[in-house]
Amino acid sequence: MSEHQISGGTIRKLWSSETQKFRDHLLRLDKNSRRMRFAHAVSDSFIDDYASRMSDMGAIVYAYLEDGEVRAVAELRKLSDLWGEEAEAAFSVEPGYQEQGIGTDLMGRVIRAARNRGVHSLYMSCLSENRKMQAIARKHEAALRFEYGEVIGEIVPVTPDYFSILVEAMEDRVGYLLAVLDVRRERQRKAA
Ligand SMILES: CC(C)(COP(=O)(O)OP(=O)(O)OC[C@H]1O[C@@H](n2cnc3c(N)ncnc32)[C@H](O)[C@@H]1OP(=O)(O)O)[C@@H](O)C(=O)NCCC(=O)NCCS
Repeated sequence: MSEHQISGGTIRKLWSSETQKFRDHLLRLDKNSRRMRFAHAVSDSFIDDYASRMSDMGAIVYAYLEDGEVRAVAELRKLSDLWGEEAEAAFSVEPGYQEQGIGTDLMGRVIRAARNRGVHSLYMSCLSENRKMQAIARKHEAALRFEYGEVIGEIVPVTPDYFSILVEAMEDRVGYLLAVLDVRRERQRKAA
């Protein structure tokens, strides 16, 4: 199993042209997952509007894909025009794909991407009853400091090193190839 594969799927950054896949994923979240993700109940039209702004302000969106469909995402967003010391992260894994280690993997990538951009505080707005989210944050406790309640994690300040930047760059190259394969597969499916 390569670093990019979990349970037969692949993880890569989404392109801004893939907003539709991001939207479809969020729409497939059940009522409880939507509430956990957005901290309140949300309608389909709220999700439509939210998804249309996927790439706003250069947000980074990692996705777990199976057969070209997005089944989980991790979003890393700046809190101002430029990457600064603070950023916000959010995670969503579709119900049938939860508890298979996908959220844990995505959180590792988001922490690394945040560090590579000089982020020191990573805010994750999370309901205090969200035990799964707390469990995956605990698995990264070497990198995170906890504040339970609405906000659960603050990234431990570590300067990005050559290795962490290289790993993200290498992943991006593989991610690019995976995205090209997804586009080709989709074209073939439509043509068939
Ligand atoms: C929270 C979420 C992102 C986690 O993703 P995931 O892929 O299910 O997480 P993982 O499989 O990597 O890890 C889940 C962990 O929670 C643990 N867990 C499950 N139920 C639990 C509970 N009730 N109490 C404590 N731990 C629990 C699992 O055992 C697992 O830990 P382990 O691998 O050590 O056994 C996902 O469940 C989700 O999208 N939920 C809905 C939206 C949401 O809550 N988003 C977060 C708000 S930002």
